[in-house]
Amino acid sequence: MQALILTGGLGTRLRPFTLDTPKPLLPVANRPFLLHQFDLLRRHGIRKVTLATAYRPETFRRMFAGGARVGLDLRYAREKTPLGTGGAVRNAVGTPAGTLLVLNGDVLHDLDLRAFLARHRNAHAEASIALTRVQDPTLYGLVDTDGSGRIRRFLEKPSQDEITCDTINAGAYLFEPSALDLIPAGVPYSLERGLFPRLLQEGRRMHGFLLDGYWTDIGTVDKYLQVNLDALSGASPLALPKAGQRGALLLEKGARLGKGVTHEEGGRTLLGAGCKIGEGVRFLGSVCVGAHSRIGRGALLRDCVILEGATVGEGARLERCIIGRGSRVGADCTVGPGTALGAGSSVSDFSRL
Ligand code: GDD
Ligand code: MG
Repeated sequence: MQALILTGGLGTRLRPFTLDTPKPLLPVANRPFLLHQFDLLRRHGIRKVTLATAYRPETFRRMFAGGARVGLDLRYAREKTPLGTGGAVRNAVGTPAGTLLVLNGDVLHDLDLRAFLARHRNAHAEASIALTRVQDPTLYGLVDTDGSGRIRRFLEKPSQDEITCDTINAGAYLFEPSALDLIPAGVPYSLERGLFPRLLQEGRRMHGFLLDGYWTDIGTVDKYLQVNLDALSGASPLALPKAGQRGALLLEKGARLGKGVTHEEGGRTLLGAGCKIGEGVRFLGSVCVGAHSRIGRGALLRDCVILEGATVGEGARLERCIIGRGSRVGADCTVGPGTALGAGSSVSDFSRL
């Protein structure tokens, strides 16, 4: 079976980090997020994978080329202007010869593809959608099923008074060619607002497959932080990079520790390749430090993400924040929850954010 990953969104809710990097390539636990999806596909024996790109398409090709390094046979499809989720599929694969697996490029889960496919086949569905339960379906595509799992209603971003259940579209689909045939070629078209409602209207078979276990999207700054923390605390299925272990400190190649660096209060701290941690730095909870970053002496970092090449000054205190690539946080700064510093920011000493 072939797979296609939708990677063309602008990632507006994840700015400033998506200004220079497409969302699926943002590092989570110091690896591009997309590698998780690649791991999942490879584990299930899928090698032929197409990336449907639109936003900053060249960055994908530069990172993965033909896919040899990630053990896949990668192809790239490109939209001159974004064609929406449906238009992107049509543009990338036309009408495929057999069943097609489609994944959103910004969700993390441990989908059992074999079981998903078996359910799809048994139900004789033309389209199947993986589902998960959430507290607030208004941010997602609401999917209502009957007792047998057949989908009765699909409503993208429902308003409060339209919510009839807590199951939503988890962003993984199986399609038969007959369903994809309905997508018009060369024009913007949405799976969620176009194809799914149309299939239902025509009484064609769509089936839901409830995922169990961890599911999240990385669509917002808060979620991007949390998915990093979950990877380090072990709450998610995301594989961590190879690293040496000193208690709860995980050291990638060439990471250097000063004297008396500690980790406290659960979770783990991942220290990227070539980073340098000053004397007496305290890590609390789950912290991710990108490659070649520097943390100054006596700094305290709790539940935060420092992206590649950033510098945190001596005595700084950081909590639940993300420091962008190559940024500089001065000495004795206090950086509080929710702060998201874009790449190359500079914050002078003693600042409070
Ligand atoms: N190639 C291409 N072209 N890809 C696109 C385009 C496009 O024009 N627009 C969006 N994408 C990609 C995004 O990169 C992302 O991987 C996926 O399609 C979904 O788009 P999002 O912009 O992230 O949509 P969403 O998060 O608001 O909602 C979607 O995901 C939810 C689950 O996280 C919908 O599929 C919802 O129904 C679903 O519940
Ligand atoms: Mg999304």
